[in-house]
This record gives sequence, structure tokens and C-alpha cells, in this order.
Amino acid sequence: MKNFTFYNPTKLIFGKGQLEQLKTEAARFGKKILVVYGGGSIKRNGLYDQVMNELKEINAEVYELAGVEPNPRLTTVRRGIELCKEHDIEFLLAVGGGSVIDCTKAIAAGAKYDGDVWDIINRDAVAKEALPFGTVLTLAATGSEMNAGSVITNWETNEKYGWGSPATFPQFSILDPVNTFTVPQNQTVYGMVDMMSHVFEQYFHDATNTPLQDRMCEGVLRTVIETGPKLINDLENYELRETILYNGTIALNGMLQMGHQGDWASHNIEHAVSAVYDIPHAGGLAILFPNWMKHVMDENVERFKQMAVRVFDVKTEGKTDKEVALEGVEKLREFWTSLGAPTRLADYEIGEDKLDLMADRAMAKGEFGRFKKLNRDDVMAILRASL
Ligand code: NZQ
Ligand code: ZN
Repeated sequence: MKNFTFYNPTKLIFGKGQLEQLKTEAARFGKKILVVYGGGSIKRNGLYDQVMNELKEINAEVYELAGVEPNPRLTTVRRGIELCKEHDIEFLLAVGGGSVIDCTKAIAAGAKYDGDVWDIINRDAVAKEALPFGTVLTLAATGSEMNAGSVITNWETNEKYGWGSPATFPQFSILDPVNTFTVPQNQTVYGMVDMMSHVFEQYFHDATNTPLQDRMCEGVLRTVIETGPKLINDLENYELRETILYNGTIALNGMLQMGHQGDWASHNIEHAVSAVYDIPHAGGLAILFPNWMKHVMDENVERFKQMAVRVFDVKTEGKTDKEVALEGVEKLREFWTSLGAPTRLADYEIGEDKLDLMADRAMAKGEFGRFKKLNRDDVMAILRASL
């Protein structure tokens, strides 16, 4: 293991009916509240009314920022910052999935920053402080409800970057599996692909002696593999939703990344793809990740073999380590395909024409990846294999 410090101050409030804690939690931070949400799912499923009723009980002065896009945009972040300044907002409440939460984090940091919020997103500046914010999560996927990360797209320049600071952890997050019942089948699948990808990013690292971390990662992966196929045919099953919701949080709240640092190259390439083509984050990951795995496998075949055996039950008799490792990657691809995830960039009608631009965007901050450092040729090879 490498030395580490673990810090995660987010209060996690999990389970059926837990929204009733919202009023008490929100009241701790002030009366002027900006509620941030997406394109309308919370109005259709009734959650919006429930949230507003809670806030009414504490006589909150409520302002709203609606219409946060999937792959949230800098323009929307800027609108939110203006609202905060105009109305002296004291607390932000994100009600939605990762996009709404990420947008809220950027607004919270931008409202306390004198310069342009893009400096923070672009990582030219670090957010030293932020307005306090909480979340009511509606989609199991990103882990944003219990981490400090945020991913924002500048659509004008086709740039999409992840950033974060100790100031951008949610104060609390309320996770009621019932609030995820209306997530459609395709988004449910994307969410599961995303959480598995987060585990892979952390499983493939360059540290030694991480036996417990490995088993924890494998446990999350196996649980998604066992639960996913049942859930996509039974979307309102409380226990299945509960399992997947908890998986998503554990997959990216820092607990799987103690004692080592993850790779995160596949996420970097995917962010470049979805900065150029506005595709779902995990749709991109489902296409790219198996190709990244094949590209970097020789760095540590043993680790890929371990995953194949322990997660995908690949048999080893009469096979080389590399054959076992490759079979594991194929099983992963088969699993994601069986859920209905895409396999090629062509599934999103992405061809060769903007490969260079996507590679440029991925390389914007130089070579990247910790398991294996990738240069531009590596990125092009992975993108080409994904066409
Ligand atoms: O906008 P609404 O109408 O709410 O609809 C959303 C959206 O269309 C819908 N949805 C959410 N909850 C629902 C629902 N529909 C019905 N019922 C519900 N209960 O689902 C669609 C997708 O929502 P979105 O928030 O975009 O999905 P997700 O949670 O997957 O977030 C994706 C974003 O998070 C970033 C991605 O890059 C992408 O921009 N990521 C953030 C991370 C982080 N902060 O730690 C890490 C991730 O790796 C990821 O990069
Ligand atoms: Zn992700």
C-alpha cells in the first residue's frame, strides 16, 4: 500500500422515507435556498412536490435553477452563480443525478470565487471555499453524492473536465431507492456500467499489497453482475434498486481507493469523446473500457487474470495467463452487451472524422493514466479500436 489520508465528511442518509430528514438538514444552513434540478423527471415522478413541501415546513425562501443538462454545461453553471449572487443564496440543494449534483458543485464553488469559474473547472485555480450544498439523489451511477468531484462541459470549446476540492463534498445526501424507480431501463444500465467502470479505474493501479482493497472492488463488481440482469426487468423492485444505489455510492466515495491511486485514463478519454459528441458518459465507457484493458494488459497480466478468475469465474486450466485475462475482458463485454450497453462508437454514429479532435482533448493536460501512462498514439489506438 501507499500512505494515505482518507477524508469524507458527507453525511449519508439512506433508505425509504428518508426525505423527511431534509427539512432538519437543510435548516442548518440558512433559509435562502437554491434548488437545482434537471429536465423535468422530478416533476413527473412527484419528487419535486415532496421536496418543496419539506422546504415549506421550514419557511425557506426557495429559488430554482431548472433544466440542468445531462453532461452539465458551463453556461448553466454561470446562470446558477448569478442566481446565488443576485439572491444571496445560503444553501444549494441538488435534486437529481450526477449531472445536477456536478453542476451544483460548480455553482457552489463559483459563487465563492472572484474570478471566472472556468479557472476552477480547468484546474488553473483550486476552489478554497464553496457555498454549502446537499443532494437528493435520483439515479445510481456517479457517486457524486458522496465525493467532491464534478465534471463540467464547455460546449463552445468542446472541453469537458473533472475537478474537485475538499470544499465540494456535499454536506449531506439523501438516498431513497424509491426515488430511482422511474429511472428508465437504458439509464439504469448506464448507471451500472458507470459504477463498474469506477471500480475498474481503481482496481488497476500500480501499488502492491492491496488484498482487502481488491476483495472490496471484486465484491462491488460481483454484486452488480448478480443484480443488474434482474433489475433491468424489474425496475420497481425495492431491494434490487437499494442494492444498486448503495453500490454506486461505495464505488466512488473514496473507500475503494485507500492505499493506492486509480488509473482514470478511460474516464479521461471518455470525457474527451462526450465533449465532442454529446453522448451518455457510461455509453462511452462501455465502448472504451474493454479496449483500454486490452491495450494496457501487458503492464500486469497477473492483475487482469485475477479479475477474470475472481469476478468472471474464468477457468484457468490449459490456458496462458494472457488467454485467461483476455477471456475476462470478453466476459465483461458480453455482460455489458447483455444489459443493452453499446459496443462501438458507430452505435452513436461516431466515425473517424473527429478522432484527432477527441485525441487532442484527451491529451489537453499531457500524458495521463497511472496503471500505464498513455501518450497520443495510445489514445488514438484505443479510439480506433472502438470505432
Ligand atoms: O434531467 P432529468 O429530467 O432529471 O432526467 C435525467 C437525465 O435525462 C434522468 N433521470 C435522473 N433521475 C431520474 C431520471 N429519469 C427518471 N427518473 C429519475 N429518478 O436521467 C438522465 C441522466 O441523468 P444524469 O444526471 O446525466 O446521469 P448520471 O447520474 O449518469 O450523471 C452523468 C454525469 O456525471 C458525470 C458524467 O461525466 C456526466 O456528466 N460524472 C461525474 C462523476 C462525479 N462527479 O464523481 C464521476 C463520473 O465518472 C462521471 O464522469
Ligand atoms: Zn464515470
